[in-house]
Amino acid sequence: MRTPLVAGNWKMHKTPSEARVWFNEFLDELGAVPPGVEVAVLPSFPLLPVAAEELAGSGVAFGAQDVSAHTWGAYTGEVAALQVADLGARYAVVGHSERRRYWQESSELVAAKTARALEAGLTPILCVGEPLEARERGEAEGFVLDQLRRSLQGVEPAGPDRLVVAYEPVWAIGTGRTATPNDAEAMAMAIREELAARYGAAFAERVRVLYGGSIKPENFAAILARPNVDGGLVGGASLEVASFLTLVRLAVGL
Ligand code: 13P
Repeated sequence: MRTPLVAGNWKMHKTPSEARVWFNEFLDELGAVPPGVEVAVLPSFPLLPVAAEELAGSGVAFGAQDVSAHTWGAYTGEVAALQVADLGARYAVVGHSERRRYWQESSELVAAKTARALEAGLTPILCVGEPLEARERGEAEGFVLDQLRRSLQGVEPAGPDRLVVAYEPVWAIGTGRTATPNDAEAMAMAIREELAARYGAAFAERVRVLYGGSIKPENFAAILARPNVDGGLVGGASLEVASFLTLVRLAVGL
């Protein structure tokens, strides 16, 4: 049994003071985290201490949107996984398609980031997803599984609860186009089979595979209903308290 995870990736939005207001409103409206669902917020680095302070004791987890591939050192502008972990973060996104695309991050670099996140005690949320051209050529699955394999090169999570994979088709991010529930399910299943080949069936059975890409209150329930999809990595719809709360409530009782 996998507990669904609803994670809000705020990307480069909100100031620390806006984040404080959001956390307060969200916790007021949410009350306690409902049983049977896990909730996480992934704000940009300067907002993490605010998340640590405001979310303490609430049961809502938080994490970073990226970490360095290096442990420590003279790497100006980088943020170490150990720095993020020390704040009490649970998660770190690695390999988001925006980083792969705008900063040319390779899967080999993503594998190093995944390893650093794990060493620091964080749970990586490893993102994979195909561009539109790959889907149109009928090569979506091959593209995603190759990306997954290379991003996990040398990566040995201590257990299935220490890895989350997010399938985010590039053409569905911020475009209003979502994968159909069938497409999301087929890819989530293929990802799980690849994880089974890599880490064994019992491990793969317990890893959460999320879908991400234009998730909205109107389309989330149908995607969540698919057996291999264990939650969502939500961009735009996580910025407003009301829509994120609706998404969390839709995931309860799956
Ligand atoms: P949107 O939900 O805004 O499409 O973003 C998805 C995403 O990239 C989450 O990581």
